Amino acid sequence: MEDPGDGSFGVSTSVRPGINESYLGATEKDMGDWEERLEGESREVVQSRSALVALLGLEGGDVVADVGAGTGLFAGQLSDLVGAAGRVYAIDIAPQFLAHVRGKIAASGRSNVVFHLAGAKHIGLPPDAGVDVAFMCNVYHHVEYPGAYMPTLGAAMRPDGVLWVIDFKRIEGVTDPGILRHVRAGQEQVTEEITAAGFVLEESVDLLEENYILKFRWPST
Ligand SMILES: C[S@@+](CC[C@H](N)C(=O)[O-])C[C@H]1O[C@@H](n2cnc3c(N)ncnc32)[C@H](O)[C@@H]1O
Repeated sequence: MEDPGDGSFGVSTSVRPGINESYLGATEKDMGDWEERLEGESREVVQSRSALVALLGLEGGDVVADVGAGTGLFAGQLSDLVGAAGRVYAIDIAPQFLAHVRGKIAASGRSNVVFHLAGAKHIGLPPDAGVDVAFMCNVYHHVEYPGAYMPTLGAAMRPDGVLWVIDFKRIEGVTDPGILRHVRAGQEQVTEEITAAGFVLEESVDLLEENYILKFRWPST
């Protein structure tokens, strides 16, 4: 999809129409396959899951937003780190994924997770959600309307709250061709888009081979 240059791209026009079809159309019987796919050891972020979660610097009592929770790869660990005084918002646009995570969390007896169905253009969290840490792992390239969506995430952040974005490096000649086709933008463009939404880039962490890790802050003024 080309940018028509009229300001609608990523705001009212999707930057990648159809990229979420398989998530939005998933049914209960598909969830076993999805869990194998998203929680299999072939994913670098699964292999490094504990290191990634540790990097977030979560403390008891924090409010953390797992934006694009998928099958719940991270939700349980996030829940344990913020503890009974904290809260996890497990957020997704795909109802069946959210139902699946809800089932897993309920079965584990954790009670500090709130399940939230987001819209494609609006995360829909209340402005007083007070998110201390937002976490997007392999999700940003699925956000179809980043120009509309990311400011709404900002509005749900507490001042000085942190956003972590982990997504695929996109390097011609190095990155797997399937990833090059699937992922529309590389680290530089993603940084430009997220800073245009009002976040400030604070740090890039060199931990993974296939994915970059960016830390942004939502400024206090
Ligand atoms: C590749 S999966 C990653 C799931 C999980 N973060 C992980 O790493 O296992 C992408 C997820 O993002 C969700 N998603 C896509 N666009 C979204 C949006 N705007 N807000 C929240 N979730 C979204 C999809 O439905 C899907 O569950």
